[in-house]
Order: sequence, then C-alpha cells, then structure tokens
Amino acid sequence: MNIETDSILKFLNYMKDGIIILDKEKNIEYVNEYAKKLLNIKNEQGKPFKEVINNDYLFSILSHNYDTENKEIIIKNEEIYINDAFYLMNYYFIDDKYYLIFTDITPFEVYKQAKKDFVSNVSHELKTPIAVLKGVIETIETEDDIENIHSFIKMAKKRVEQMNVLVDDLLIIAKLESKEEKITKEEINLYQMVESIFSDMKIIAEEKNVKLINNTQKQTKFYVDEKKFQILLKNLIENAIKYNRQNGEVELSSREDDKYSYLSVRDTGIGIPKESLPLIFERFYRVDKSRSRNIGGTGLGLSIVKHIAESHNGKIYVNSEIDKGSIFTVKIPKRKEEAVI
Ligand SMILES: Nc1ncnc2c1ncn2[C@@H]1O[C@H](COP(=O)(O)OP(=O)(O)OP(=O)(O)O)[C@@H](O)[C@H]1O
Ligand SMILES: [Mg+2]
Repeated sequence: MNIETDSILKFLNYMKDGIIILDKEKNIEYVNEYAKKLLNIKNEQGKPFKEVINNDYLFSILSHNYDTENKEIIIKNEEIYINDAFYLMNYYFIDDKYYLIFTDITPFEVYKQAKKDFVSNVSHELKTPIAVLKGVIETIETEDDIENIHSFIKMAKKRVEQMNVLVDDLLIIAKLESKEEKITKEEINLYQMVESIFSDMKIIAEEKNVKLINNTQKQTKFYVDEKKFQILLKNLIENAIKYNRQNGEVELSSREDDKYSYLSVRDTGIGIPKESLPLIFERFYRVDKSRSRNIGGTGLGLSIVKHIAESHNGKIYVNSEIDKGSIFTVKIPKRKEEAVI
C-alpha cells in the first residue's frame, strides 16, 4: 500500500471525529478541521500542546506521562465532556507519535437516556393498576358481601382495561418503529373514515353530550396508509371528546392546496396551556396530571399521532386557547409519491 501522507491528512479533515497528532516531545503535528472547530484551535503547527490545547480535560491527559513501553493504546474508550457534548476518547502512542481521537456520542447518550426514561415510565404506568388489582383481590378473598364483591370486580375490570390500552399503545409504537413496517399509501375516503370513528365514539360523546360534526370535504383527496391514518384520527377525535366540556362540540374539516391536504380536528374543550404546547407530543406527557387523572389515558396518543403524520412526510400543528378549545391540524403531501417538505 502506498498512500501519500498528505492525502490521508486531507481525508482526515472530512471526518466527523476530532483528531490531534503530537510528536514525541508533544508538539502539535496535526489537528483535523473538526478538532480545530470544536476546540477553537488556530496556528498550531509545531507549537507545544500546552500553548494550543485549552480544554482542561484534554490538557491534563496530554500533560500526563503515561507508560508507553510496548503499548500502542494508552487510553481506550473513555467518556469525556467538551462544550456540552459527550465524546468517546481514545489515546494512542504509535511509532513515536501520540494520537488523540474523539467521537461525538451525544446522540447515542440522548437515545440511551430516552430508553431509560421510557422503561421507567412504562413501569410506573403499570404499577398503579397492578397495586389496585392486588388490593382488590386481597379484599375479595375475605369479603362475604356479594354486592361488595361485585363492585370490587368492577374496579378490577377497569384497571385491567387500563393496562390493556397501555399495552395496545405500546404495541402500536413498537410496530411503527420497526423497520419492516412500511407505509402503503392509497386514496382513502376520509368522510367515511370519520363517520365510522364517530360511530365507535358515540358512547363517550353521549356521556358528555358532545356534538360530533363531520365537515370533511368529499373532494379533498388523502393519500395515506389507511390503517395508520385511522389510528391517528381515532386518537385526535378521542382527545377532542375527552378534553371537551359538557354540551361541547367536535368538528372535523378538510381542505387542500397545490401540494398538501389538511385535516383539522376542532374542539370546544378545556384548551392547552401555552407552556405545555411543545410537550404534548412527547411520550407519557399529560397536562396537569391531577386534572387529567380522572380522564383515562397514559399520554401516548399524541406521540403516536405525530409519528404517523411524520411517517407520511407530513406534520401536525396545534392551536389552542384555554377554556375555549383546541384545533389540531394534520398536513399530508397530496401526491401519491413521496413529497419533500
Ligand atoms: N384536544 C385536547 N384538548 C385539551 N388538551 C388536550 C387535547 N389533546 C391532548 N391534550 C392534552 O395533551 C395530553 C397528551 O395527549 P395524549 O393523547 O398524548 O395522551 P392522553 O390522551 O392523556 O392519553 P392516551 O391518548 O394515551 O390515552 C393530554 O393528557 C391532555 O392533557
Ligand atoms: Mg389521547
């Protein structure tokens, strides 16, 4: 193999890792563009590292005289923190030169944290119904009064249903996130889809005397994955009813422009505080937990809605006013082919 050193060094400038090379006396021989930008390094060539490196952690590593006898790897995979980001650092001594390489692992750290939060949220959501069920079963064991037993069983059924909904939502999320799951777009009859969801929701709407209005336009074309769009719509309509007031209304409407079709779900409900608006699409987020405790749910619905809208190259928006109501609008590319937003 015969690749010129200059070519290699040029190539290293394109890397998304920081690279610093020092000679035996620890004078700077080379810093790639990424490291220069990150550590704000200029005119470094030939200077002792002490005049160039201003990051405390890297400075202390380079200052230390490690035993380099018969050893090429001095430090392996150590996590360090530079300018609010996590880096994985490796430090080598090869053929009388020191090589320091660091890779940004912030996205991985964020992912790891999200995974931890997710598991702890799921466990938390399951803990309450399980605790209630345990209590109910223990009570039934010693209870003789048949009427009391019936009311405890009713309580247990409600909690089982709650766990069932949670597991169903988790399965939807797992499916949406799995790579095998593809979006199959076809033209749907939105009006019909809304009618069918309205009829499924009739009972919960009647409990609150909420009027359901289908103003979607038959000529507005929606090219979407039918099954997934149904899940999206069901969640938005369910929220619009759940968070409505007595005798309120829910109105579905549609429109289109050159490139996109829009679907809006408007309600006359409790509204969403401004500070919560950016958070409602996060998994498990619920506005004011105490207020919504009596309204069943786990806070997964809107995260599923957002996921589905985005998997169609679409977007979801919300406008809301406290005590007046909210409008959720879904924007989907009109053409059957993929569209760039
Ligand atoms: N139409 C709405 N009006 C007022 N608040 C809403 C509306 N839709 C959602 N929210 C608020 O956003 C939160 C998150 O909604 P999301 O649908 O993700 O969860 P959920 O309805 O609480 O539970 P789930 O949908 O998982 O059963 C809700 O808890 C509620 O506080
Ligand atoms: Mg919901």
